[in-house]
Amino acid sequence: MTVTEDKATAAGSGRNATASFARKQRTTEPADHARVSAIATDALAALHEVIRRHQVTYTEYDALKAWLIDVGETGEWPLFLDVFIEHVVEEVANADRQGAVGTIEGPYYIPDAPEFPSEATVPMRGDEKGTPLLFQGTVTDLDGAPIENALVELWHADDAGFYSQFAPGIPEWNLRAQIRTGTDGRYTFHTIQPAPYQIPTDGACGRLIAAAGWHPWRPAHLHLKVSAAGKAPITTQLYFAGGEYVEDDVAQAVKPELILHPTATASGNEVTYAFPLDPA
Ligand code: DHB
Ligand code: FE
Repeated sequence: MTVTEDKATAAGSGRNATASFARKQRTTEPADHARVSAIATDALAALHEVIRRHQVTYTEYDALKAWLIDVGETGEWPLFLDVFIEHVVEEVANADRQGAVGTIEGPYYIPDAPEFPSEATVPMRGDEKGTPLLFQGTVTDLDGAPIENALVELWHADDAGFYSQFAPGIPEWNLRAQIRTGTDGRYTFHTIQPAPYQIPTDGACGRLIAAAGWHPWRPAHLHLKVSAAGKAPITTQLYFAGGEYVEDDVAQAVKPELILHPTATASGNEVTYAFPLDPA
């Protein structure tokens, strides 16, 4: 008898994303009451204005309550926030950068992935599906001088759009790795090209997307964090020119500077990308 693998579900990836967020280091600073009041007052006023503009009914208000409760109960808050809100937080946070362009982190980052020297074959299954991708480049300062010992963290979905540690049946560190650049600032990853990612359609976020008639897709992407001593760390994603949903990302996280143009080689695709880091 074969053992049937659990299917990926919204509740499953939601639960895992919520548990992962709970492990993240967060501020323990006391609240700045004036700032909390200013932001909360304006956020509520924005909602009040929407209710008046659209003449929201009690039926709709109750549907909203039920939906919000459901998002929480299924652990989908990280998914919802990172798809629909994070891109503006990132825009504000990185507005003053001169160098490498950032975008959203999303809910599926895990720190402390397996570490390699400057060239790594990313951990993957023996029969990992997907076009092989040679992804390489340099980490530099804003003047283009190479940075040695920069940390380049890479994580991405597999050829079916699933992330290890969030969807069932995938080895723990599959398609997750971090490498240190050498004296020339270079990094080289051997991996596979991910597939587009679909927001789970069977949960509360999926129900909102379906009810609104939107589509639930993000374009295929590589996630990266790049950091080095004395530099401002960057969190970003890279996309593939001409790929599905690049022009129409449900999370609105694509920027022109983040689109890769890989070339085909005998053994797959190859692309080079540079990360000039701003000073800290
Ligand atoms: C979500 C998933 C992603 O892979 C990503 O990059 C951003 C957001 C999400 O499901 O919320
Ligand atoms: Fe992602």
